[in-house]
Amino acid sequence: MSAAEPVDLTVADLHPALGDPALTSMNFLNEVSERYPAAVSLAAGRPYEEFFDLAAVHRHLDTFHRHLVDDLGHRPEQARRLLLQYGRTKGIVHHLIARNLAVDEGITVDPEDVVVTVGCQEAMFLVLRALRAGPADVLLAVAPTYVGLTGAARLVDLPVWPVAGGSAGVDLVDLAAQVRRARAAGLRPRACYLMPDFANPSGASIDTAHRQRLLDVAAQEDLLLLEDNPYGLFHGDDGPRPPTLKALDSGRRVVYLGSFAKTVLPGARVGYVVADQRVAGPDGRVGPLADQLAMIKSMVTVNTSPIAQAVIGGRLLEHGCSLVAANTRERSAYTRNLRHLVAGLTRRFPDQPDRPAVRWTVPAGGFFVVVTVPFPVDDALLDRSGRDYGVLWTPMAHFYDDTAPVRALRLSVSAVTPEQIDVGLDRLAALITDELARRAG
Ligand SMILES: Cc1ncc(COP(=O)(O)O)c(C=O)c1O
Repeated sequence: MSAAEPVDLTVADLHPALGDPALTSMNFLNEVSERYPAAVSLAAGRPYEEFFDLAAVHRHLDTFHRHLVDDLGHRPEQARRLLLQYGRTKGIVHHLIARNLAVDEGITVDPEDVVVTVGCQEAMFLVLRALRAGPADVLLAVAPTYVGLTGAARLVDLPVWPVAGGSAGVDLVDLAAQVRRARAAGLRPRACYLMPDFANPSGASIDTAHRQRLLDVAAQEDLLLLEDNPYGLFHGDDGPRPPTLKALDSGRRVVYLGSFAKTVLPGARVGYVVADQRVAGPDGRVGPLADQLAMIKSMVTVNTSPIAQAVIGGRLLEHGCSLVAANTRERSAYTRNLRHLVAGLTRRFPDQPDRPAVRWTVPAGGFFVVVTVPFPVDDALLDRSGRDYGVLWTPMAHFYDDTAPVRALRLSVSAVTPEQIDVGLDRLAALITDELARRAG
């Protein structure tokens, strides 16, 4: 858009979210990647593309079609209609999602409490839209926060209040304090959003005992928890995974947000929400929150593409509904990359008495490592990194909901090879060394 172009509207006349950094953040980061296509990208949190298989997509579709006919007893024309016609708002793979959650997570879910969505992103939007009833409502979110959540909250005019993450993944003293502070100000905290497993961007995880305490605090403070879990399967060791909050939730405190983007295919754009909270209607009838979310969904995306759902359903069926089983190759590649990245950082940034420290997190799994540097990291530095050094990463400032300078950047290991990690880290080390020299001089 050029300044001389005739104008019919201004952003100021549109929804206030459209001028907000939370909404422009993802586009900006994509634009930087497009500007420097030859750069090594340690920025993208995308799954590894070499595992994508077009032929498997056709097979998954056939597998799900056979399931409809052979297992569920649909006549051929019914099965064809289910796959190709407008369909059930809450989706057609809800029973397989419920089975997946039982097999992989030990969560017992009534399939009627599941809404299949257009990615987890739509699930977040539906939940926030439903919870935002009036101007006193606020959402708490553990900071740093996934920017897709902050953007969705903006679109429904729901302010986001940060809660400290701390060393345990969520600071429970701060959580209770924020709830009380909001209530004392006449506000109504509707929920707290968090990622207990390998959070984006921090990489932090919450241990089992702390999850239990978090549920106790949520009960004491009468607060819902929004548990977002796109990375939980990618744990880096062979020990047992901690139970999800939803698996520990005996009081229907947890709304569980799921994504198949990292465990099956991002291009299918399928996610889901488990919302078993009981909601009383104006006529006194009680039903799951999922039904209210479906009502909103019917006015946003009508239903999630049944073809895309069938691809996910077929993949689930081919692995006994276990995404753990379906992702052994992926998990070992991500684990290898994470170890390679951490070892590479250790080699390139040894502690030196004459040099300010560069530090990094060592997550137990997932895609992300946060590197802390002795200078503020902003979009201009990222642009220079892409142009002059050929390496991309994500400024951590994008994950904080204020304008304070942040001295950290996020590296992602998911879409690269170990060789690319080496090249990317060499370039990042050169950038950091030059930046320190520039600032010292
Ligand atoms: C924490 C988190 N939640 C949700 C999403 C969005 O998932 P989907 O692609 O299913 O919309 C992402 C994607 O990167 C994410 O990192």
